[in-house]
Amino acid sequence: MTDEPIFEEINEAKANLDDIYDQPDPRAYFRELKEFNYAIPGSAKPIFQKLINHLQHRSDDTIHILDLGCSYGINAALLKHDLSMTDLYQHWGQKILAGIPPEDIVERDLRYFAHLEEANDIEVIGLDQSEHAIEFAEEVGLLDEGLVVNLETEPLPGSAKDDLATVDLVVSTGCVGYVTEKTFDRLLPAVTQGHSPWMANFVLRMFPFEPIEQTLDARGYVTEKLEGHTFIQRQFASDEEQEQVLERLHEQGIDPSGMEAEGHLLAEFYLSRPSNEAAGLTVEQLVLA
Ligand SMILES: C[S@@+](CC[C@H](N)C(=O)[O-])C[C@H]1O[C@@H](n2cnc3c(N)ncnc32)[C@H](O)[C@@H]1O
Repeated sequence: MTDEPIFEEINEAKANLDDIYDQPDPRAYFRELKEFNYAIPGSAKPIFQKLINHLQHRSDDTIHILDLGCSYGINAALLKHDLSMTDLYQHWGQKILAGIPPEDIVERDLRYFAHLEEANDIEVIGLDQSEHAIEFAEEVGLLDEGLVVNLETEPLPGSAKDDLATVDLVVSTGCVGYVTEKTFDRLLPAVTQGHSPWMANFVLRMFPFEPIEQTLDARGYVTEKLEGHTFIQRQFASDEEQEQVLERLHEQGIDPSGMEAEGHLLAEFYLSRPSNEAAGLTVEQLVLA
């Protein structure tokens, strides 16, 4: 298993955006990330939808999703509704909203999302350490359940175990790196109580996925990477950030030329499934067909 500080050290290469993660509403998050064209939830949406469709074919029931590092319920907004990241930037990034108190934004968003049709029969549990972001996502109905916890430093609350037993699909965008194999290790006993969910993670190339893969492997999971495909996470926030990230990639023997050297942080897609299910269709067959 990898030494603990590795994720933390690599994370230091990235711009620190912590101040926008725990606001009473998503306006600052969307205003700031628009500057860097943060795009990964939008790129992930069609892949997650393919997996949801596949899981829905196997069962008539609602598909239960756990979104790790869910923030303000962004993946839930995209997957529940016919919305794109452009729509969300427009919705939350409007200048006219700047002076409105957060409680009015919550009221407005409650009505906004309630009037939108639900595109998929899904329920979303969101897990994030940011209390205000989770509270917002629950209040406006994007999350069916929110868990405020940092599994890097604390155990899963006993009260969360029952809710997690029915999860069919675990998803994450922009989260691995902040969370490591420790989070997965603490989550696995709860989510594998019944049927074991599939896990769909978009991971920046500079973060090693092996420690998480090994943790999942010990619980009977097989992980496949979608080879030959990268997904734009966002533009670099500064030349300094780009230099530091390129340095980290070089240190790990990853060639950034024609990739991060062109100006974007790039993610790869990993699908982890229980070994008996992974023996069927490959990740390519599932998400590219
Ligand atoms: C880059 S944002 C990604 C949010 C969302 N998934 C998206 O793609 O828009 C990273 C999120 O991870 C959360 N986070 C950071 N460390 C965490 C931890 N140890 N446990 C849970 N969430 C964490 C932050 O609060 C933030 O909401």
